[in-house]
Amino acid sequence: MTLFERVFGGNDAVYGLTEAAIDNAIAQYGEGQAVSFPDTAYSLPCYYAVTGSKVGTLGELKQALGVVKTLMTRNPRLNDAFMSGVATALCAEFIEVLKYLNGAAPYELPCYGHLSDAVIRNLGVPLVTGDIPGVAVILGSAPSADEAVALVKSYQSQGILVTLVGGVIDQLEEKGYKTGDNVRVIPLGKDVTAVIHVVSVALRAALIFGNITPGDAGSLMKYTMERVPAFVNAFKPLDDVIVACGAGAIALGFPVVTNETENIYRVPKSLIVQEDVSKFNATSLEARDIKIKITTIDIPVSFASAFEGEIIRKGDMQVEVDGSRKDCFELVTTRDAAEIEDHKITVDGPELDEIPVGSKISLSYIVEVAGKNMQSDFESVMERKIHSFLNCIEGVMHTGQRDMIRIRVSKADFEAGFRFRHIGEVLYAKIKSEFDTVVDKCQVKIVVDEAKNKELRAMANEVFNRRDDRLRSMTDESVPVFYTCIMCQAFSPSHVCIVTPERLGLCGAVSWLDAKATNELDPQGPCQVVPKEHCIDERLGRYEDVDEAVQKYSHGALEHVTLYSLFQDPMTSCGCFECICGVEPVSMGVVITMREYAGMTPLGMTFSEMASMTGGGVQTPGFMGHGKHFIASKKFIAAEGGLGRIVWLPKELKEQMRDKLNEAAKELYDVDNFADMIADETICTEDPEELLNYLTEVGHPVLSMEPFD
Ligand code: SF4
Ligand code: NI
Ligand code: NI
Repeated sequence: MTLFERVFGGNDAVYGLTEAAIDNAIAQYGEGQAVSFPDTAYSLPCYYAVTGSKVGTLGELKQALGVVKTLMTRNPRLNDAFMSGVATALCAEFIEVLKYLNGAAPYELPCYGHLSDAVIRNLGVPLVTGDIPGVAVILGSAPSADEAVALVKSYQSQGILVTLVGGVIDQLEEKGYKTGDNVRVIPLGKDVTAVIHVVSVALRAALIFGNITPGDAGSLMKYTMERVPAFVNAFKPLDDVIVACGAGAIALGFPVVTNETENIYRVPKSLIVQEDVSKFNATSLEARDIKIKITTIDIPVSFASAFEGEIIRKGDMQVEVDGSRKDCFELVTTRDAAEIEDHKITVDGPELDEIPVGSKISLSYIVEVAGKNMQSDFESVMERKIHSFLNCIEGVMHTGQRDMIRIRVSKADFEAGFRFRHIGEVLYAKIKSEFDTVVDKCQVKIVVDEAKNKELRAMANEVFNRRDDRLRSMTDESVPVFYTCIMCQAFSPSHVCIVTPERLGLCGAVSWLDAKATNELDPQGPCQVVPKEHCIDERLGRYEDVDEAVQKYSHGALEHVTLYSLFQDPMTSCGCFECICGVEPVSMGVVITMREYAGMTPLGMTFSEMASMTGGGVQTPGFMGHGKHFIASKKFIAAEGGLGRIVWLPKELKEQMRDKLNEAAKELYDVDNFADMIADETICTEDPEELLNYLTEVGHPVLSMEPFD
């Protein structure tokens, strides 16, 4: 059999199964029965991305299958094979969506099945920063469970996101290997059709971040080929269905590496035979052209961004640094070069092996840096990275910041030889490598002593207070320049964030100070200086210089952007915004929701649905993505009256922002307890009249504002 025959045969087989499954479902539920995946605004995402049509009912699904059939041409040419691969993928999506029929929950942990839009948006920032350098799709069973673990671990320790389909899931379970989206190893499902859930991620990324028009299959495939660094590892034996799926993967630009040698045809750079499973990793990275940043750190356990979200339970911890009960803190501070001995790490107090297991302890670390180009403003930028640095250690969990930190070190790490000084090693190595242009020398002082930490903490708090005073005094008016950030252009080619002291980047990860530091660390990098010499309209935040910058860095896609308006040339969104706001026409206010909140809003839309209204670097007046902290900024939609327009927030977000919202509203409108006037899901969802009643009852300031023009 030729490769074409295998692809066509596999495609026909899956098509037959799909047709039967749809007919069965119609016989049982009728054509009008709704079909959908949970938590997505993109219908059946793959079918929608490829054809531009949404499918809402079983009857429409049946029609869609007719459209799929038209892709299944049978000439022995490469294009026919690719299209049959795509058709196979679409059939797989249909089979998978039928599993969700009638509100069923077909997947249970460890398997995820369909991944929500929010999961994809969460991946946005780490993908653009290269924290997630690639996406591996592992299919089938490895020759042995040990080899399965070794392969997954090899990707995980490079930060690569791993998705699993089929027998490999059981192999990891058998070995007790931890999986989950928090450690970037996601079992999708055990049937081969579950592979569609990762294809769905790639295609939604194109719609969400790339502003690809649904139905523009050519641009879609170009986008996935150029911008989604995914690849497939398929274990033998490969049946025709898997070969047909593989053709679909290759059509999207994802190379397939397999250990199958029988009845297989090599296609350079696309279908690669690698008999030695221990070389799958290297072969795949080479085929997809993925480069891994290596930082070697002298510690006895793994260090990788994939471990950032790992959770250490009470029963698994050796010791806990507990800032809520003991004096603890972390601090980065600048010293004279003469005061620092590079790479000196001291532990003042008992080491980990001298402390009883399960203890809650007082611990602090001061990272002292020196460098000709060091500025005290960078201290807080570095300090905020400590959270991510320590979390990347396998078996260590870090939360909080400043003097409210909590660190858990696992028993497994202790047994592997991990000690407090290794915290110093990590801090030293990461600060030196990530801030190499400003840090010439670095040393770390760890103190494990309650009495000493009590004194040191008082000193650290003075530093934190001084910093806060400086931050509070920093306004858009008081600084000489703004910055661009174009980090997200890897996925949203025309998106530009303008970052100001009072408006952080929409991902929430880039403040004005961060942008300034990024610019000085890498002058040719993503953050460029935007002068602010020619203000055109202060109320809107319209500057000639800003317009010039967005024109230049969006490559002409954008002409005008205002900093403070939701309606007039609002700032664009890429896809990884923390929050989105949209106009609520009944109250003339705005509703804001966030990625973590999956529920409904009074706009009749969920986060995913609101988010799908904008993105990909286009301007959508009335909808705008933004960072959480922008909500309490005095510049938040200042042109339309400011944060007094906020009529609804998810409760969790409201609580997070409560104090700052109250403070800002007091200053702007002389209103007390503004946060209590904002509705949330415990007060109303869905019904705008109910919302209006509540706002009237509490005397919300929006009611005395002008309608939007
Ligand atoms: Fe992306 Fe804007 Fe965040 Fe930069 S500031 S990483 S461009 S969202
Ligand atoms: Ni113009
Ligand atoms: Ni982004």
